[in-house]
Amino acid sequence: MHQNIYAVAGVTGKVGSATAARLLATNDRVRALVRSSAAAEEWSSRGADTRIVDLGDAVALEAAITGCAGLFILLPFDLSADDPDAHADALASSIATAVAAAAVPHVVMLSSGGADRAAGTGPITGLHRLEEALRATGIRLTAMRPGHFQEKISDALDTAQNEGVYPVFAASADVSHPLVATQDLGAVAADLLRDPPQRNQSVDVLGPEYTERQVADILARVLGRELQVVVLPEEAWAATLIDAGLPPQAAAALAELYRADEKGLLAPRGDRTIRTDTPLETTITHTLAAGHHA
Ligand SMILES: NC(=O)c1ccc[n+]([C@@H]2O[C@H](COP(=O)([O-])OP(=O)(O)OC[C@H]3O[C@@H](n4cnc5c(N)ncnc54)[C@H](OP(=O)(O)O)[C@@H]3O)[C@@H](O)[C@H]2O)c1
Repeated sequence: MHQNIYAVAGVTGKVGSATAARLLATNDRVRALVRSSAAAEEWSSRGADTRIVDLGDAVALEAAITGCAGLFILLPFDLSADDPDAHADALASSIATAVAAAAVPHVVMLSSGGADRAAGTGPITGLHRLEEALRATGIRLTAMRPGHFQEKISDALDTAQNEGVYPVFAASADVSHPLVATQDLGAVAADLLRDPPQRNQSVDVLGPEYTERQVADILARVLGRELQVVVLPEEAWAATLIDAGLPPQAAAALAELYRADEKGLLAPRGDRTIRTDTPLETTITHTLAAGHHA
């Protein structure tokens, strides 16, 4: 019998690479969607079929995913874009057009907690619009809605290592939130691709819970240095992000995201929940070993 093949976008990134690796490990066929010949060569050597395609090119994307039993898709954020919303909308439109034209039976989308809301969640609103655009195509959609990734710690590494400071963009460092490892998200995405649902579903994928102070303690332990937890006042969030090099619109969008988190707008509200268990210590250790910091 002809074996199913699953298309995976973003295989040079964190969740896409984990998804494709998991599928290959279980002897499933993978079509890796990449943007460079170097990435195509790498994934080809790992056993995947490959296509070089930009998610913004609907015609090429349609051709790349036609015939696949499932597609893992993400909406890459571009925080360097002057207008991150316009960037997200262009990609979302291209992806939905290609999925509809290729009639892929099942799409697993990397979405986010808060994507059920149309406004007030910063960059998550783009994920809301992509979810809606994919549902409108009539294909079967599984929206994976994780909370924050454990790998977001990378953003704080330079300041922690160079200044001994762990900045907190929240009113308190003592409120806990689930933090999911992207390795675990990839494993969940692979399982969801192999087991398509009867109807559309949104799945909250939640890792272990940590307060920001606990995150700082774990990071301090792994780095072997003391860290001072600095709770930034809300008025300083956007300016701090601009100082760190973000364009004003992206900084404003992230500040809105942090405010949304404060108000509980990113809380799980999907149809069901999958819990994952990789601890933050493991992710920080891997992140440092892999040199995933500037
Ligand atoms: N960070 C969080 O806490 C969080 C929480 C919830 C949801 N999310 C979602 O997760 C996404 C990030 O996932 P990730 O961390 O796995 O990504 P990542 O590591 O940042 O990698 C992004 C991937 O997307 C690819 N890509 C970017 N633009 C593309 C384009 N125009 N066409 C084709 N491929 C493109 C990149 O390929 P190249 O190597 O060619 O650049 C790379 O493989 C976010 O965009 C957001 O939607 C994030």
